[in-house]
Amino acid sequence: MSRAHSLDAAEMQRAALLADAVAGLSAPRKTLPCKWLYDEEGARLFEAITRLPEYYPTRTEMRILDEAGEDIGRRVGPGASVVEFGPGDGIKAVQLLQALASPEAYLPVDIAPEWLDAAAARVARAFPGLRVQPVVADFSQALDLSDRAGPRALGFFPGSTIGNFEPADAVAFLRRVRGALGANARLLLGADLVKEPKVLEAAYDDGAGVTAAFNLNLLARLNAEADANFALDAFRHRAIWNAAKERIEMHLVSMADQSVRLAGRVFRFAPGETIHTESSHKYRPEALRSLAEAAGWQVAEMWTDSAAQFSVWLLEASSATSRTD
Ligand code: AVJ
Repeated sequence: MSRAHSLDAAEMQRAALLADAVAGLSAPRKTLPCKWLYDEEGARLFEAITRLPEYYPTRTEMRILDEAGEDIGRRVGPGASVVEFGPGDGIKAVQLLQALASPEAYLPVDIAPEWLDAAAARVARAFPGLRVQPVVADFSQALDLSDRAGPRALGFFPGSTIGNFEPADAVAFLRRVRGALGANARLLLGADLVKEPKVLEAAYDDGAGVTAAFNLNLLARLNAEADANFALDAFRHRAIWNAAKERIEMHLVSMADQSVRLAGRVFRFAPGETIHTESSHKYRPEALRSLAEAAGWQVAEMWTDSAAQFSVWLLEASSATSRTD
């Protein structure tokens, strides 16, 4: 990729951040999209979160993939092309590929090319000879990966990232994945389950303060990239269980009556007013099943851990649904 190209991408990224910040902070209930949590420092902090004692999802999902590995391998069969959406560091892909008989290819998909390198490199190292083909694509748009994935496409969307979508957007996303992977597609999907609010609140507000730092880093990012002047010690991290919507919400709470400048505008905060920065929806198995079915998938199998904290689903494209997108 040329230097000019990457500069343009950085400028576009910054313009999008600014537009999202202005829109989100102008809303009656202030909000910022959670995708902006992941700059370099945010990615590093998220990585640290996955190793916290309170944050059970990552290690529980890894354990399920490990323990159900043989089952998954048998169900999926030989020659699958694994298409992973937002692959991160590729550790889970390695775990999955180990369970599969003679996989055909690994295709990590992300909008940011620099985010594909780590996963592609890790998988290529672990499976020399496997076709590893990164795909730069925005999966908030319709896309067609069926040629690259071939007839045995296995989508992979672990980590309960599906939970960061509003349910309607989750359906739209799953429908797009089905459209992208072709008629015989399958999808291995990780989803966090509804459980005791105490456990959830601890997972999103850990004792070491790593999740707080992760959330507050968004304000540091706005200071650095959107010409803002947030006082980081004037906001506090909060994780709230929204029982009606069955989701954990991360907020940044204003500790004072204060004004913040951002890109030449001024935003006023009342004491206690919050910026909603992330929702992490938790699912009951029946609800996840309906969600998948609404998106043109049917459930082939569901695996969970012994404490039923997390779930991994094997979905199959249902032939009854018309292919509209
Ligand atoms: C793995 C991105 C889905 O919602 O649990 C972790 C992000 N936020 N702690 C999640 C996250 C706060 C995470 N995702």
